[in-house]
Amino acid sequence: MQSLLKQPNSITDLAKPYRIGNVVIDPPLVLAPMADVTNGPFRKVCKRIGRPGLIVTEQISTMALHYNSERTWKMFDWNEEEFPLSVQLFGADPYVMAEAAKIVVERGATIVDINMGCWVPKVCKTGAGAALLKDERTAVRVVDAVVKAVDVPVTIKMRAGWDCSNLTSVPLAIEFEKLGAQAFALHGRTAAQGYEGSADWRWIRDIKEAVTVPVTGNGDVRSPYDAERMMRETGCNGVMVGRAAIGNPWILRDIGHYMKTGDILPPASLEERIETALEHLRSLAENFGEDKAVRHLRGQVPIYVKGYRGANEAREKIVRATTIDEVEEILGMVKDFFGDHSQYLQNRYIARN
Ligand SMILES: Cc1cc2nc3c(=O)[nH]c(=O)nc-3n(C[C@H](O)[C@H](O)[C@H](O)COP(=O)(O)O)c2cc1C
Repeated sequence: MQSLLKQPNSITDLAKPYRIGNVVIDPPLVLAPMADVTNGPFRKVCKRIGRPGLIVTEQISTMALHYNSERTWKMFDWNEEEFPLSVQLFGADPYVMAEAAKIVVERGATIVDINMGCWVPKVCKTGAGAALLKDERTAVRVVDAVVKAVDVPVTIKMRAGWDCSNLTSVPLAIEFEKLGAQAFALHGRTAAQGYEGSADWRWIRDIKEAVTVPVTGNGDVRSPYDAERMMRETGCNGVMVGRAAIGNPWILRDIGHYMKTGDILPPASLEERIETALEHLRSLAENFGEDKAVRHLRGQVPIYVKGYRGANEAREKIVRATTIDEVEEILGMVKDFFGDHSQYLQNRYIARN
């Protein structure tokens, strides 16, 4: 469907590909790192459907890597199709972080990202993640060590600060840029906020105005129009999407398409949603075994069919499912009952537009 009017300051003019070092991010859309979510199988689904310009892995503990943890090595499950791939590291020891950065680059990471956004106590009590935002000396040493250790771009994902009286992201970003950091992603909340309230995108604008390298905005983008508004209000170079992609990788497709054409795509069909949920589940089972995969995705599979009548019942049943066959049967019930309805909605959408 063609837009009738392409204004000079349209989304297609705003959302130009950008570069992090020599890596082209096209479209300017990034899948956010999410621990226990953006593992190989989910990244694969997001890449196939959403084709974001950049994908970030779930965070890798550099201490665990240092101690050769088997579970951590399993996170090195990236493959060619997902590139360019940014591998996110967390830790607070400059030497260990640099050592880990070298390892992930040897294994093919396109970009090394340093986590300064994770607010969960388990991470922060080790001095890592968002705790670095209140420990400038260590943060600077970490960035310096990682930049010196690798020859790929190093980026930093931050929150605005530890809390509202410690908004350190701007002075830190200025310092990190001097040390050689090549881009920043800013989630518009403080660590103390967790996920409370709405993201404050003014903090994204502040960091964008303070540095010369690209800034990716993050926080509460749930639609193509949110992405556009974030770009307009903050001047950010790209948009990072996290939670909205869980169980809905089409959000990436929709935003990317809107950025490139200014057009809104019709929604995915219920059939496609169910097939994708099963693809995700089967792929996870190949990596982790069926039992673990089903348990792990119990919360996510229902999101694939959210909004369809019968989805709530499916969610209640999936909580007790232990095999892929069971999940398929439960989803099939949603499909059998409302498949025609989804087709009807799609046809109606197409007819209206
Ligand atoms: C389940 C989950 C896990 C996350 N894990 C990470 C992580 O490993 N590293 C990180 O920098 N941020 C992590 N985040 C934060 C997201 O990357 C993102 O900054 C945040 O969700 C805000 O973006 P959104 O509103 O698009 O979800 C996580 C978020 C969620 C929901």
